[in-house]
Amino acid sequence: MSSAVRTQVAIVGAGPAGLMLAHLLHRSGIESIIVESRSRAYVEGRVRAGVLEHETAALLEATGVGERMRREGLVHRGIELRFGAHSKRIDFEELTGGKTVTVYGQQEVVKDLIAAGLAAGGAILFEREVVGIDVDRDDRAALRCRDAGGPEQTIVADFIAGCDGFRGPCRAAIPRDVLSFYDHVFPFAWLGILAQSPPVSHELIYANHERGFALVSMRSLTVSRLYLQCRTDEDLALWPDERIWTELRARLESDGDGPAVTAGEVLQKGITPMRSFVCDPMRYGRLFLAGDSAHIVPSTGAKGMNLAIADVRVLSRALATYYEHGKSDLLDAYSATCLRRVWKTQRFSTYMTGMLHRFGEHGPFERQVQLAELDYVTSSRSAAKSLAESYVGLPFERDAPTRTHALSLTTESRFE
Ligand code: DHB
Repeated sequence: MSSAVRTQVAIVGAGPAGLMLAHLLHRSGIESIIVESRSRAYVEGRVRAGVLEHETAALLEATGVGERMRREGLVHRGIELRFGAHSKRIDFEELTGGKTVTVYGQQEVVKDLIAAGLAAGGAILFEREVVGIDVDRDDRAALRCRDAGGPEQTIVADFIAGCDGFRGPCRAAIPRDVLSFYDHVFPFAWLGILAQSPPVSHELIYANHERGFALVSMRSLTVSRLYLQCRTDEDLALWPDERIWTELRARLESDGDGPAVTAGEVLQKGITPMRSFVCDPMRYGRLFLAGDSAHIVPSTGAKGMNLAIADVRVLSRALATYYEHGKSDLLDAYSATCLRRVWKTQRFSTYMTGMLHRFGEHGPFERQVQLAELDYVTSSRSAAKSLAESYVGLPFERDAPTRTHALSLTTESRFE
């Protein structure tokens, strides 16, 4: 036996994109149901990056889900780039006319959005596997899902939002011949740890060292988040905690003039592959892809969640316009609007990755060019300004005014 429910927007995935979409839709009076394959504990515990662009943080705050972020998040006004045993600072605030970023873990954003969604009476169905997606009818979309062993349930919706990550079922439901994929896999990965230790420095340090890239970040004044460039097939078993601390000290040259690294209990350890991926278009009929289901950026610069939230900001506005005015022009423009930001973000993440990592195929010539790039970006105001502008987040594009326009935090200048 199968039961059916009706909603306006069925959202697949309870990551930042799906949860933020449900939140923004709710604020516009649009009903949604989220279907998530994992448990609530799993999605709330999934450790990911933790840097919120200026406008991502402002959006959380303006829509009533930024209270804990403002209390517990750490506002950062710049970063340090470390190479040749010296650190040089990029001052975001000064270079961008006052913009900053906020260090606040992605899973904290997820917890805040789940709490807000459930408090508002929102439907989040955890541990429901999507077993079928039907977007081929002109008048409606449908998805079938079930929990372990339970009966199948059909959700009939006007639209489906695929916020289900890189390996989710939504993109896979689109005929392959209508999509173009752009893909690049980097020849290294990141070994990341979360540790009970005070931050190495009050700002993030991105280090390009002969031994490989290192990044020191944080989650609070007592918890550090640290990354080391490693092999794509790295075996975590070969990385006992002590080896990680020794390697971090070596890459930061912390016994020389480098920042002091204090070892602490390792709370979590994992390997993150580095890849770029873009799916074009990000829409098929009544199915809209957002976040990692449509694109992946390499980690350097922490753009993944910010880009996912930028997508659903565009989508929620387009849906609000559709329901309010019966106009689908913003929905029709969704993919092109998002892809402009996606590609600019791919450019930035690729640039940061290329500038900061050791590439096995690089010879002495490429190495010198890389060091010159670091020298240039830390000594030329124009180059530093360009890095800072992308790091704090490019301004959102203006689009047609809608009732939700009050949420718009678009800066003065339109970004072309
Ligand atoms: C973090 C991750 C990143 O990829 C980055 O560029 C900066 C910080 C983090 O997890 O804190």
